[in-house]
Amino acid sequence: MPTLTGNRPTGNWTPQSWRALPAKQMPAYPDADHLAQVGAQLSRFPPLVFAGEARELKSQLAKVARGEAFLLQGGDCAESFQEFHPDKIRDTFRVLLQMAVVMTFGSAVPVVKVGRMAGQFAKPRSADMETVGGVELPSYRGDIINGFDFNEESRIPDPNRMLNAYNQSASTLNLLRAFAQGGYADLHQVHQWILGFVGRGPEVQRYEEFASRIDEALQFMAACGVTAETTPAIREAAFFTSHEALLLPYEEALTRIDSTTGEWYDVSSHLLWIGDRTRQVDHAHVEFLRGVRNPIGIKCGPSLDPDELMRLIDLLNPEDEAGRLTLIVRMGAENLDKGFAPLARRVKKEGRTVVWASDPMHGNTVKSTSGYKTRRFDAILEEVRAFFGVCHGEGIHPGGVHFEMTGQDVTECTGGAHEVTDDALSERYHTACDPRLNANQALELAFLIAEKLKEERAEKDRARRIAAAE
Ligand code: PEP
Ligand code: CO
Repeated sequence: MPTLTGNRPTGNWTPQSWRALPAKQMPAYPDADHLAQVGAQLSRFPPLVFAGEARELKSQLAKVARGEAFLLQGGDCAESFQEFHPDKIRDTFRVLLQMAVVMTFGSAVPVVKVGRMAGQFAKPRSADMETVGGVELPSYRGDIINGFDFNEESRIPDPNRMLNAYNQSASTLNLLRAFAQGGYADLHQVHQWILGFVGRGPEVQRYEEFASRIDEALQFMAACGVTAETTPAIREAAFFTSHEALLLPYEEALTRIDSTTGEWYDVSSHLLWIGDRTRQVDHAHVEFLRGVRNPIGIKCGPSLDPDELMRLIDLLNPEDEAGRLTLIVRMGAENLDKGFAPLARRVKKEGRTVVWASDPMHGNTVKSTSGYKTRRFDAILEEVRAFFGVCHGEGIHPGGVHFEMTGQDVTECTGGAHEVTDDALSERYHTACDPRLNANQALELAFLIAEKLKEERAEKDRARRIAAAE
């Protein structure tokens, strides 16, 4: 365990201490001097986020941990240089807002909004090499590392890509901040946000009904004197960013001491998470993240056992700070009960404070008959339902969800109200990595979650009434 004084690691942690440890999923850069030179350059670039914002997110996540709020985290599997376009940023942001509105209005629980955006570039891969037509080349590891094109040159890791990724993150974040604070996210726009959907299926009609009721509620509140002028939360949305902290030379270069507290923060993003493939307690990624004060996520896959999880919690949150840790469960629909329940039980028994979130995407990836990597919408729904079921059974708060999704009308996951079929996958399959929910599928899920949250709230109210009557 690290030695701590207050929240400050005084042990042997430094932004470079991960370098002495083994690291999985790290690219082999051919030119170490070039890598060091880019790292030095990045370390002089301005922070992308302010440490105070990361603390604000942590305090909102502390509310989630207490059962007073819900986390919605979502966005691309991998952002890409080629797909970079303001409309894509706007559309993903808009779907997240729509989902949040549905969840908040449907359940009366505040929703903390976190994008997998403005920095989600590096990808862990199951195989180091990829073979196409008898040719074997290093795998694509995300645009921050190498190129997607299948040729030898493009697959060589290039440190200059980190500079590109930084610049793209900075301009993405700039637009997100403008949307969040400049009027786009104003609740009075709730009808305008409808434009991104395809057709008028049941989920879209339901959304329109919600939007009309929100309008009515806003008119009522305005008549009572509660307006965007008196209550900025009506006009502005708090929106945070996150990505997997995979490429450690990049994260190290963006790790700075916050002048207001004297503590280390990774200022590449508000929240950073550790992937399921890089969560070894004695390896580099865990070492790096234990020393920064940001809120941290850990992906919890089927191979994680309760003892190992406790070691991770001890290392990453020794003082049991609320909001510091979000455990993102990604077991697959079939394994969820078996995998999640023992973890939930143990953490509760040890009295540790965490946010439990469900990533129903990464345990449900399959190959379609047409050869595409896909996910069945039904399996995704099933894992979300099972997650709520386990939380209910174990008496813990279902804290949030984590999705790979986009505002575009893609055909990457099969099923949903518009029934994307196996054969239709090729029509608009745009992802460079994992299959994402399209806007309509994401909205459908939001309605399911709102219902589950409403049930949870009703249950709590009932328990409270019974307790008061006794
Ligand atoms: C991801 O979130 O894109 C990812 C690779 O997840 P996991 O580490 O859970 O496999
Ligand atoms: Co993914």
